[in-house]
Amino acid sequence: MSLLEKVNVTTGTGWQMGPCVGNTGTTSVGFPSLCLQDGPLGIRYAYPITAFPAGITTAATFNKDLMHSRGRAMGQEAQNLGINALLGPCIGPLGRSPLGGRNWEAFGADPYLQGVAGQLTVRGIQELRVMAVVKHWLGNEQERFRRKGELGSWPKVKEAISTNIGGRAAREVYAWPFQDAVREGATGVMCSYQQVNNSYACENSWLLNGLLKDELGFQGFVVSDWLAQRSGVNSVIAGMDMTMPGDGLSWADGLSLLGANLTSMVVNGTVPVSRLDDMALRIVASWYKLGQDDPNFLPKQKKPLFSSWLRDEIGPLYPRSSDQDQQMIVQNYFIDPRGQLGNLSQIQTGDVDHAKLARQVAAEGIVMLKNVNGTLPMSGGTIRKGPYKQIGIFGSDAAHSPIGPNGCIDRSCNVGTLGQGWGSGSVEYAYLISPLEAIQARAIQDQTTVDFVLQDGSNSVNSTAYQVNKHGKDAACLVFVTSDSGEGYISAEGNLGDRNDLKLWHDGDKAILSVADNCENTIVVIHSVGPVLMEAWADHPNVTAILMANLPGQESGSSLVDVLYGNVNPSGHLPYTIGKSLADYGADTEIMWDPNWEIPQQDFTEGIYIDYKWFDKHNITPRYEFGYGMSYTSFNFTQLEITTLWNGELAEEPPSATGLSGNPALWDPIFRVELLVTNTGKVAGKVAAQLYLSFPKAIEYDTPVRQLRGFEKVELAVGESKIVVFELTRRDISVWSEEKGAWVVPREKGGVGVGSYGVFVGPSSRGKGVSGETEKIPSVN
Ligand code: BGC
Repeated sequence: MSLLEKVNVTTGTGWQMGPCVGNTGTTSVGFPSLCLQDGPLGIRYAYPITAFPAGITTAATFNKDLMHSRGRAMGQEAQNLGINALLGPCIGPLGRSPLGGRNWEAFGADPYLQGVAGQLTVRGIQELRVMAVVKHWLGNEQERFRRKGELGSWPKVKEAISTNIGGRAAREVYAWPFQDAVREGATGVMCSYQQVNNSYACENSWLLNGLLKDELGFQGFVVSDWLAQRSGVNSVIAGMDMTMPGDGLSWADGLSLLGANLTSMVVNGTVPVSRLDDMALRIVASWYKLGQDDPNFLPKQKKPLFSSWLRDEIGPLYPRSSDQDQQMIVQNYFIDPRGQLGNLSQIQTGDVDHAKLARQVAAEGIVMLKNVNGTLPMSGGTIRKGPYKQIGIFGSDAAHSPIGPNGCIDRSCNVGTLGQGWGSGSVEYAYLISPLEAIQARAIQDQTTVDFVLQDGSNSVNSTAYQVNKHGKDAACLVFVTSDSGEGYISAEGNLGDRNDLKLWHDGDKAILSVADNCENTIVVIHSVGPVLMEAWADHPNVTAILMANLPGQESGSSLVDVLYGNVNPSGHLPYTIGKSLADYGADTEIMWDPNWEIPQQDFTEGIYIDYKWFDKHNITPRYEFGYGMSYTSFNFTQLEITTLWNGELAEEPPSATGLSGNPALWDPIFRVELLVTNTGKVAGKVAAQLYLSFPKAIEYDTPVRQLRGFEKVELAVGESKIVVFELTRRDISVWSEEKGAWVVPREKGGVGVGSYGVFVGPSSRGKGVSGETEKIPSVN
C-alpha cells in the first residue's frame, strides 16, 4: 500500500458518506472499504432484521449458550448484509450509577458477568467472521457531559467530563470485561467520548498504548467513537488506529483530523511511518484473522446490501454530499438476512430461527421477583387449579404505540410497549408482539375473558378493575409499567439520556396501587432499562406477583406469555441490585447533574464498590439482591467440594509476561469447585448456580464481602440432580496492587502463605446455597 492507501484504511469517509454508520476509504490493492455498523442488539438501520433482547435482558438469562447463540445470530445477519464490523457488544457502561442512560445496552452491574457475556457475544459474532468492536473504552458511565459537541446546554462547561478512575478500579471493574473480550480475540475496541483522568479517551496514551495494548496485549485496532477524536497527532501517538466517522470536530464537516492531515503528519515527520504502518496493519490483520479475504465472505454484490440513510432502491453514492452529478447506485437490495445461513460450514442451534432464539432469550431474561399464593403460572398449578376466568390488563405498556413500533427516531420515546432503550444501540422493529395481543391469543384458548384499559396512572382503573374484582380469586389483573433511558444525543420526556430517577414512568406506582386496591391477584410486569423503586407497592398484599421483564425486543408478548403460562419456567436472575432508594446505591454514584468545574470532574471515589459490592460493604438490605430470581420449582444446593489444582507454592505476583489478554499466568487454574444442584419441586426448571468468592480476611487489601466468580445455568427435571463444576483462576483470586503495579494473590498477614477463600454457591448473591473454604496454599518467599 502507498502512504495514501494506508491513510485511507485508517480514516472514515465522513458522516453519511457511505452505506454504513462508518465506512473506511479504499485502496487499489484489494483491501476494501470496510462497513462498520451498530449495534449491540441487532443491525441498526437495516430492515428487516431481528430486534434481539437488549444486553441487560441477555445478562439476566445467566445462560452462556444463549449469550453465544445470540452473538452468532447477530454475526450471521451482519454477514448476510455485507457488514465487516459490528459495533458491539457493549461491555461498558458497567452501571456504576443505576441512572446511567446506556446501562441497558451492556450486561449488568458486575464486571465478571459483563466479561462472560461480552466474551461469548464476541465469540458468536466472530465465528461468523464479522469483526466485533467492543465498546466503550473506558469509563463512559454517564451521558451528561460525555461529548464535547453535546455541551450546548451547559455553556460554562468547556470540555467533556473526566471520569477519574484509580488503577485498581480500572483493572478490577471497568477493564475487566474488556480483558475477557481481548482474550477471546475481539478485533476492535472503541475508545469513548469522555475524558479519563483528564485526557480524552481517544488520545489517552495510558489507556490505549498502556492498559489496552501493552498490559492487555490487544493486537487489534482502536476505533474512535463517532467524533470522539479531539486531536490529530496526540490521538495517533496515544494509540488510536482508526477515526470515525472520519470528519473533524463536528458532523459532516469534511475536515478530518486524520485523512490528509495524517499524510502530512507522516510526511513532515511528526508521526513516524512505523506508527502509520502499525495502524493499518492492525486493521488489515483483523480482516485476515477472520477470513474476510475469502471471496465468499461478502455477498455477491461485494458491498453492503442496505443503506443506513436511504430507503429507496437507488440513490447517490455519497448520500450526504450535495454534489448533484454524483453516481447513482443500488442502495437497498431488500434482502432478508434473518436465518439465512450465509457461508457457514457448521450450523448450530439457534442459527436458523432467529425469532425463536430472540423469544427464548427474552423469556429466560424475565426475572420473577414475587409469586405468592400460586398466582403464577396463569394456567394454574398446584395451588390454584386451572386458568383464571377473567383477565384485566392495565397500562399503555401492554399494547402498541399508536405511531407504531418505529414511530420515534432511534426509539426515543416511551409510548406503547417498551422493548428497547433509545440511541445508537436501538434497531428498527421488523415486527413487535405486544403483551396484549399475545395474552389475548392465549386467553382465547382457555376461554378466559380479557378486558383492558390502556391509560396510565390512576386513570388505569375504571370499571374494569371493579369488574374483575367481582371474580375475586378467579380474576387476574396485569399492570404494565416502564422505565426508559438512552443515549445522550436525544431525549425523551425530559430525560436527556440518563434516567432522572429510579421511579416508574407515567405514574406507574399509582397505576399499580389503584389496581391492587381493587384486585386480589395483581401481577406487575415491568419493562425497564434497569432497577426501579418498588417500595410503594411491592409489599401490597394484593400485589401477588412481580415480573421484571427487562427489555425484551421484538418477542415481548410471546416471551411474556411463555413465562406467565408456564411454558417456560422462569429462570432469569437480576443482573443488578434492586435497592430501596437511589441513595442505597451510594451517594457518589449518582449521575453528576451539575458540573463541578468547567471540565466536570467525576471521581470514582467508591473504587471497586459498585452495586451489590456497595450494598454488602455498607450493610444495606436491598429489596431484591443481585442474582435473585424465582422459579415455579425449587432447588437445593449441596455437597460443595473444593479441590486445589495448584501444585506447590504460589507466588504472590505471577511471573511477569505479556500475552494476548495480559499475563497468561492470570489464567492458571488454582481451585476447582464442585457441587450438586437438585430440583426439589414439582416441575422441571432451570436455575443459574452462582459462585461468589470472599477473600481471606487477614490480608492487606480491602476486598468486597463477595464477588461473582462463576455461573452456570442448569436444567433439571423433577427430582433430578446435576453436578456443577467451576474453575477459579489466578485472576479470580487476585487483587490489583497499585503499589506493585501488578495483580497479586494477597498473602495472609503474619501467615506463611495464601489464606483460605470463602466460596459460596447459590441461586443469588444472598440466597440459600452452600458454602465452603479453600485450602491455604504456601507461598514462595
Ligand atoms: C455511540 C456509539 C455508536 C456510534 C455510531 C455513538 O454515538 O456512542 O456507541 O457505535 O455512535 O453510531
